[in-house]
Amino acid sequence: MEEDKLQRILDQVADAAFATADKGRVADYIPELAAVDPDQFAIAVARPGHPTLTAGRAQKAFSIQSVSKVFTLAVALGKLGDRLWNRVGREPSGQAFDSVILLEQEKGRPRNPFINAGAIVTTDAVLEGSEPKEALAAILRFVREAAGDDAIHINDSVAQSEIATGHRNFALAHYLLSHGNLQHPPELTLGTYFHQCAIEMNCAQLADAGLFLTACDGAPRMVSPSRIRRINALMMTCGHYDGSGDYAYRVGLPGKSGVGGGILTIAPGIASIAVWAPGLNRYGNSKLGTEAMQRLTDLTGWSVF
Ligand code: DON
Repeated sequence: MEEDKLQRILDQVADAAFATADKGRVADYIPELAAVDPDQFAIAVARPGHPTLTAGRAQKAFSIQSVSKVFTLAVALGKLGDRLWNRVGREPSGQAFDSVILLEQEKGRPRNPFINAGAIVTTDAVLEGSEPKEALAAILRFVREAAGDDAIHINDSVAQSEIATGHRNFALAHYLLSHGNLQHPPELTLGTYFHQCAIEMNCAQLADAGLFLTACDGAPRMVSPSRIRRINALMMTCGHYDGSGDYAYRVGLPGKSGVGGGILTIAPGIASIAVWAPGLNRYGNSKLGTEAMQRLTDLTGWSVF
């Protein structure tokens, strides 16, 4: 699609988002995120060989939170390969992102790498044979290389805010440990997990960071083509937790959300799209972000279906 036309569509999508009265509710279980102004919106589209197009506040950094789980999964698969699947499944959970209920029923093997329990196991796997600092550095290095931007950083206050208040994640980690599915002390694995969630990026950087998952000619080659397809499949089926079916229905593309209000969406062979609006819907995914992605795909026709 021509740049002028795509830019007009992005402007239209941003105008509609700013005009929407119900902006959702910001996450308040992480004190540092509770203070974010919900009246913000940004969208960015990255395509190899084209400038990254944006609308709204696309240079404003936000906490990527669970969007980081995509990058950590790529790092963990690079390190362990299919051995990761001995510890975590590949099925949608149909439960909230921080739910503990299936973990008891399924004896400490989380359903997928995107719910918190599964992401904690995935981070624990990246820690195998590494010091926590090295594991975190490997994740941050992957993100920086994917985005082509060495300035991307971790917000330590956000990480500390979760270390102080993340009781459910501590419960999940202890539960995993009790089933032998955590190889490090909970505070060590969670320290790494909270810091990975506290990576900050703006929408333009996040769209660029997703390019390696598009398999477009000219995109960074960071993982193999078959792994790209598999990560996208998990994003489509599990990337929005118990709202994954709703996102697939509305948007028709694989995506991964975070409670900071960011969503990374991949249009395979076409583009990487990032959207950010801090107010969340009942699933804990960006409300305006989801609506904007629905509008974008309606206007562009981008879909895997
Ligand atoms: O572990 C948590 O609860 C947060 N650091 C991340 C959760 C999250 O982003 C859920 N996504 N919508």
